[in-house]
Amino acid sequence: MSRILAGNWKMNLGVAEGTALLRAIGDHAVPAGSLTTVVFPPLTILAALARERRIQDPKLGVQNCHAEPKGPFTGEVSPEMAREAGAELALVGHSERRRLFCENDASVQAKMKGVLRAGLKPVLCIGETLAERERRETRDVLSRQLGRALEGIPARAPLWVAYEPVWAIGTGVVATVDEVAEAHGWVLEELGRMGRGSAAGHPPVLYGGSVDPKNASGLAALPEVDGFLVGGASLAAETFLAIGDALVKAEHAI
Ligand code: 13P
Repeated sequence: MSRILAGNWKMNLGVAEGTALLRAIGDHAVPAGSLTTVVFPPLTILAALARERRIQDPKLGVQNCHAEPKGPFTGEVSPEMAREAGAELALVGHSERRRLFCENDASVQAKMKGVLRAGLKPVLCIGETLAERERRETRDVLSRQLGRALEGIPARAPLWVAYEPVWAIGTGVVATVDEVAEAHGWVLEELGRMGRGSAAGHPPVLYGGSVDPKNASGLAALPEVDGFLVGGASLAAETFLAIGDALVKAEHAI
């Protein structure tokens, strides 16, 4: 199975830097079918990057969008507009959106529906805070976030999930291989329980949180990890592509 290398550029990179990075990613050779690459640039440069791509690789996505198709929502962009600008995917419920922009399980659910309505593939981000982990609530938090986000959504709808423990995002503290294996196991069990996966196949589950070229190989060796959602290390071709190479090598080793 092709593994997934996704880069969340957050609020970084303008047209010139973003275009150069996109070119470097597109020019990097990996064995055919071994890696699916996606970047989530700032909205302002999405259309420019879509024009720049020679082929549909890397894929493009948005970091956020509104749930509604149009209307009086000053400053917002609809999933349909994101699609028109060149997005194929959308991050939904990133912890920075939940923490800094008051998103909650209800708004995440509405955005999931909007993203699917527009024909974008949602990348649903879930993860526990440090306090929740310390209270041993991780499994319950993941189940709740998955359950609420997917309520009313058909089991066959396109879906990727990103497990991103809040305490590991942008902190340099990466979850251990055992912690990631355990959490991904719970996510897969929950997806199975919800009729969204079986031994034959399940939505890809990515890990995100301080992934870098040094820790990527250990995490990539886990069969429960279908890929990475990378923040800081996705802003430079050298580090982002080294993480991709780790995924490809581990795939060959499994
Ligand atoms: P970092 O890789 O910078 O920790 O960010 C992870 C993330 O938030 C990806 O969505």
